[in-house]
Amino acid sequence: MDTIILLSLFLPYSSSLICSGSEKALFHLPYPSNISTPSLKCFNECVKNDCEGVILTNDRCFVLSNSSFALEDSTFAAKKCVTGLYHSTISLTASQLVVPDRDASIISTPSLDQCIVRCANEKQCSACQFFSDSLDCLLSLFESRNGPDPLPEPDGFNVTFVQVISPLPKGECSPSFNSFQSIPVYTPIYGDAKLYNGSEGLEECLSHCSDCSSVLYSSHYKECFIVTPSSVSQPLNFIDDHFMILSSLCSPSFSSLQFPLFYLFSSCVRFSQ
Ligand SMILES: *[C@@H]1O[C@H](CO)[C@@H](O)[C@H](O)[C@H]1NC(C)=O
Ligand SMILES: *[C@@H]1O[C@H](CO)[C@@H](O)[C@H](O)[C@H]1NC(C)=O
Ligand SMILES: *[C@@H]1O[C@H](CO)[C@@H](O)[C@H](O)[C@H]1NC(C)=O
Ligand SMILES: *[C@@H]1O[C@H](CO)[C@@H](O)[C@H](O)[C@H]1NC(C)=O
Repeated sequence: MDTIILLSLFLPYSSSLICSGSEKALFHLPYPSNISTPSLKCFNECVKNDCEGVILTNDRCFVLSNSSFALEDSTFAAKKCVTGLYHSTISLTASQLVVPDRDASIISTPSLDQCIVRCANEKQCSACQFFSDSLDCLLSLFESRNGPDPLPEPDGFNVTFVQVISPLPKGECSPSFNSFQSIPVYTPIYGDAKLYNGSEGLEECLSHCSDCSSVLYSSHYKECFIVTPSSVSQPLNFIDDHFMILSSLCSPSFSSLQFPLFYLFSSCVRFSQ
């Protein structure tokens, strides 16, 4: 027999991670990192909303709204709000690497972030190098986004190499999620929920989602609910703060959501036991 349940959630926000009008988002990632086109969806979402950063795994991305979220084999791109930046930007940073570039323009900036800002604001600049002792900032204009591979720095300078991606390219809809954890429960979710065995972990749970609108996962209860859109609704009152809630950025219902003040997503949940 089908049990139909209505899930209530209140998804909180922290005000500090929304960039003000004069600020743009700057994401820091290690160099090299794979930034797939689908994952750009998460960056674009994180730019607009309250968000601590983006988690990248091989084929998925997660907008992080609560730092308690963790995944194995993932890369975290922390978001910073920076003034003077024309467009939101991704920076991939490695220490003690340099790119041989005789044509680089040399400027002076007070910090690494300001060096990145200057490169990001320069249409042709795809990489920069910052020497923290001399405050020299080298802006490199390469034809391709990547430019030549950076090489180890042999001369003992403290130098940081940064690949700069600005403005952020548009993402496409693909496995991308908003994530929440330990959430007091208030707002209804609508959809059909199917229960899977969650003992194999979050990645395994997510693999059951193809067109789902959200995933409710608990490592504590070893439960994995895959929710797909539906017009029926019933309370899902067993959901407590042992569940992690992941809502798909590609779900049609997502576009109507209001961020950041009330992220109240609705979905009607039904599952069989
Ligand atoms: C990037 O992705 C490619 C192909 O998916 C993989 O071979 C490579 O190891 C990845 N690089 C990093 C730094 O993760
Ligand atoms: C994030 O989750 C922790 C528990 O894991 C909770 O105490 C905290 O309030 C949450 N923060 C936000 C901003 O939701
Ligand atoms: C090297 O430069 C980076 C970037 O400016 C800085 O964060 C770091 O503290 C410096 N390290 C040393 C040992 O000076
Ligand atoms: C879930 O899977 C694990 C191991 O794969 C198994 O031990 C456990 O009994 C399963 N739980 C349910 C409720 O089927």
